[in-house]
Amino acid sequence: MKKVFTVIAAALVAITAAADEGMWLLPLLQKMNKKDLREAGCKLSPDEIYSINHSSLKDAIVQFGGGCTGEIISEEGLIVTNHHCGYSNIQALSTPEHNYLMDGYFALTRDKEIPCPGLSVTFLREMTDITAILAKEADDAAKEAKIKELIESAQKANPNCEVITEDFYNDNVKYLIVYKVFNDVRFVGAPPASVGKYGGETDNWMWPRHTGDFSMFRVYASPENEPAEYAEENIPYRPQRHLKISLKGVKENDYSMILGYPGRTQRFQTAAQLEQMVKENRVRIDVRTVRQDLMWEAMCADPKVQLMYASKYASSANGWKKWQGEELAFKKLDIIGREKAKEAAFMEWVNQDPARVEAYGGALDKISDAVKSVSEPDLALTLLTEAPFRIELITALSRYSNAVNSVLRKDPEAGKDVFVDAAKSLDGFYRDYVEPLDRKEAVALLSYYRDHADKTQYFDSLAVGFEDFASMDIPAYVDYLFDGSVFTSQEKLSAALEGEDYKEKITNDPANILYNAIIAKALLLYPSLYAAQTPLAEGSKAFAAGLLDWENGKASYPDANFTMRLTYGHVLPYSPKDAVYYQYFTTLEGVMEKEDPTNPEFIVPAKLKELFEARDYGRYADKKDGKIHTCFLTNNDITGGNSGSPVLNAKGELIGLAFDGNWESMSSDVMFEPDLQRCICVDIRYVLFLVEKLGGASNIIAELDFAK
Ligand code: ARG
Repeated sequence: MKKVFTVIAAALVAITAAADEGMWLLPLLQKMNKKDLREAGCKLSPDEIYSINHSSLKDAIVQFGGGCTGEIISEEGLIVTNHHCGYSNIQALSTPEHNYLMDGYFALTRDKEIPCPGLSVTFLREMTDITAILAKEADDAAKEAKIKELIESAQKANPNCEVITEDFYNDNVKYLIVYKVFNDVRFVGAPPASVGKYGGETDNWMWPRHTGDFSMFRVYASPENEPAEYAEENIPYRPQRHLKISLKGVKENDYSMILGYPGRTQRFQTAAQLEQMVKENRVRIDVRTVRQDLMWEAMCADPKVQLMYASKYASSANGWKKWQGEELAFKKLDIIGREKAKEAAFMEWVNQDPARVEAYGGALDKISDAVKSVSEPDLALTLLTEAPFRIELITALSRYSNAVNSVLRKDPEAGKDVFVDAAKSLDGFYRDYVEPLDRKEAVALLSYYRDHADKTQYFDSLAVGFEDFASMDIPAYVDYLFDGSVFTSQEKLSAALEGEDYKEKITNDPANILYNAIIAKALLLYPSLYAAQTPLAEGSKAFAAGLLDWENGKASYPDANFTMRLTYGHVLPYSPKDAVYYQYFTTLEGVMEKEDPTNPEFIVPAKLKELFEARDYGRYADKKDGKIHTCFLTNNDITGGNSGSPVLNAKGELIGLAFDGNWESMSSDVMFEPDLQRCICVDIRYVLFLVEKLGGASNIIAELDFAK
């Protein structure tokens, strides 16, 4: 009986791995995907998608900021990405008087494009597997030396580039990667948040969707067309490649592919690790609920606070909702049970051969022992980082002391300048800081921590009158903390740094004392967390190697790790539950249906309603039904980090932008679900309709390259 079960489980695993699953490595497309790509309907060869010898599609794709994807859509460095990817940058440029985030903005001339300090975009030049080269080296020291040598020679061959190495398949494979980074990136335009974030947190992670989730930026370069820091004389970057745009729209079963930078997946993790992940995320969800409720209340009460906290709130809420969906999907789809069945089948295969037992036999136990040993401290650390550490005053302290200490470590004699510079680096923090709100957060987070932490993790004496964390009056302590700290404003901090006794003032600041108390509790947990690292890494490496060996001969892809990948599949509808069918596209009609003037997440701008009433759609209406199609679905395999990625047709022309996953398959980072998992994309025709008709930016349209 057992045997039959595992054979079936193995067969299921095999079927699951086919379909349109896969975040494929670009240098391996030729070897692994060539035939499949063609059969799926792709008209491009692997070489036209990724080449290091001539320009290819990958040259039009950038990593946008640290965690998103963007694509070049004109000869003059114009980039389109998601609205939620540009969100924090647009917020940083906005004031209540010029509120680009809420009201939208389009630069109608180049001089109106606004620099975004701190924003960069990264182009991939090439990636090379160096695993075999390193395998020839005798020991770790020789490997390190070899890596250094390879990096240096790649650096020489690629001036103005950054060279790094990256691990894949749980450290079984290593690549050398060459990137070119541009730091002068300017804001070109975005729709108002009521369009770019239409549906807000309610619709986030869900279908049917009606969000115009896009924003536009431009890369600038030196007059020599090379990376340069912001300067007035910089010129729009002339890219090696830009994408052509198709206005033909999509039909069910059309081929679609996505090139982008998926962030993290856990497809090589074991059931033991996944169980721990679910527990950790539950801690995060519960604490964030407390903090987000306070933020939301303050944001709804005051438009200024709404602008200041927009990005903080959205990013907290995005994870919070994702983990809840993941928890539900884990149960509904029996993710852990299926992972266990896969592991049982794997072990059966291992046990057939002594050599396999030798290589992989201990891997799963090693991992589960390590996970068991860190389970408690790991949850304690999660609670610590999500609760007291999220008091914003503590965030300020953490940034401040990291800035100071990074200099002092190199130069212990460094003087006051270091402290003053660190204070300046908090400008952005104070810009979006509301002290009365943070006081409320502090009371709530400390109370939550006291109610949920183990007593051994309670803080030692925080001040006179607040010696016993278990019984102290938390609101009174929070008043003492905020009244006495100089870290509540840039002015107080600067004033404190003026006197000779600045070091004592900082050291004895009540916020610094709380910060150190939190760090001390984290340090208590580190020894056991640290001790598990090596067995966990060894077990994970052996398990991944075993899985690859088990599936030898089949195309495979490593977990996402913020490197560029290709996923390909088709435009498809789905059935979320019994008797319910979801069409694969939405229309402007649906935007109007969802409108709710009493709900800030569902406001429709008056101008959009006028355009709708007049059916003033220009060339962007669907040829068949005459409507504006807003979003559509594919079964492409994406995750966070892919946001903003181009959705391309069989010829590599831009048909949309990927921006989300769907609720029913929120376990997708762990297992791909062929029947349920969909990628939510905004239709490029909706994007351009908004640029031209809502934004009036015909200058941008004139710059684009439309496919015939
Ligand atoms: N769920 C999207 C992603 O992770 C982000 C959506 C942002 N929108 C929002 N309402 N928070 O890529």
